[in-house]
Amino acid sequence: MNVKEKILLVDDEEGIRKVLGISLSDKGYDVFTAQDGEGALRVFKETKPSVVLTDIKMPGMDGIELLGRLKKEDPDTEVIMITGHGEMDLAIKSLKYEATDFVTKPINDDVLEIALKRAYEKISMKRQLRDYTQNLEKLVKEQSAKLVETERAAAVGQTVAGLAHAIKNIAGGLRGGVFVVEKGMELGNDEYLRQGWDMVKTDVARIRAMALDLLNYAKERIPDYKLYDPNGVAREVLALMGPRAKEYGVALEADLDEDLPDVWFDPEGMHRCLTNLVTNAIDACADITCAERDGRVVLKSFAPGNEQYRAGYEVADNGCGITEEMMPKLFQSFFSTKGTKGTGLGLMTTKKIVDEHGGDIAVQSDPGKGTQFVIRFAPMDHTGAASEA
Ligand SMILES: Nc1ncnc2c1ncn2[C@@H]1O[C@H](COP(=O)(O)OP(=O)(O)OP(=O)(O)O)[C@@H](O)[C@H]1O
Ligand SMILES: [Mg+2]
Repeated sequence: MNVKEKILLVDDEEGIRKVLGISLSDKGYDVFTAQDGEGALRVFKETKPSVVLTDIKMPGMDGIELLGRLKKEDPDTEVIMITGHGEMDLAIKSLKYEATDFVTKPINDDVLEIALKRAYEKISMKRQLRDYTQNLEKLVKEQSAKLVETERAAAVGQTVAGLAHAIKNIAGGLRGGVFVVEKGMELGNDEYLRQGWDMVKTDVARIRAMALDLLNYAKERIPDYKLYDPNGVAREVLALMGPRAKEYGVALEADLDEDLPDVWFDPEGMHRCLTNLVTNAIDACADITCAERDGRVVLKSFAPGNEQYRAGYEVADNGCGITEEMMPKLFQSFFSTKGTKGTGLGLMTTKKIVDEHGGDIAVQSDPGKGTQFVIRFAPMDHTGAASEA
């Protein structure tokens, strides 16, 4: 080590702080110590160590809570947990909260050495990844600047930057899963193997779904305009989404204007728009934070009654609603509040399709009460050009 790496050691037992402190200093680390969680946070803020070694069981704030607060302070901090005999469940829990590793008391020097080596390897990998991502972003920016005349290129640039970010997140999750699996193999523990494998599977499913959505979005699909019944599309979507609504205990209802004439539009594209909106509406009703009332989603078709637009849909739900500060982000790529269950591409795709139709999409929401999305689209002739009404 050229420059001394800083390490913060947290343990309520003075003996352990002393012995371990000396041994770490001997190994060439710049060691700071604290005897409880509060103290640790204070020292952490002052000294900014890249690695924290903390006891898991301490009076007051325990190691897991400390881990959470350290990660909040700086997500890049590597935290190694010290666990007692028989505290394996806590150890696994801490891994899920992104601890780097754990070592068991009494601490074996070689084991600790390996854990530290891994932590510093992770740090240097992260630094490389950050440089790489920054370069990627720079590259994307440069490329986008060159092509600024076309709006689409800029949109692609944003998407690539968002994509790099999303992939980084999923890769982080995957590494956590792999780590737990490796621990399971090392210790011959089936339970860890199963837990780790579940983590891996979830992330693989996420990355697959994201790739499919993106492929769909990127494909230059020429809309296939037809003279078609807007209610036909609505009925198909209602039939398709029925089972999902039922599964979540949400009532899915139709309110169709039977007098709507056939209009020129791309039924398949509009089908995707409605599927996305209805899926979101059902999700909003199924949200546990507002699950007291019975969920209800209504898909309505209507005649906008003006020259510019001849047909429209409304998807209304009585779900959790959308807050004021979320509103501007709704149609951006990768904006999602659904964690592993959403990628945040649904509304972006919907807007793209509506735009292609020369239409508009509007949203109104009452947080805690419900949301309405309204699509209106223009009369088109068979070439897709907006015709004079
Ligand atoms: N009807 C709604 N009620 C409440 N929030 C909504 C509603 N529709 C969308 N949102 C919010 O907008 C976010 C973005 O929606 P979007 O459909 O783009 O992505 P997603 O549903 O999270 O993921 P996916 O790519 O699978 O559709 C959602 O995560 C959710 O927070
Ligand atoms: Mg969605």
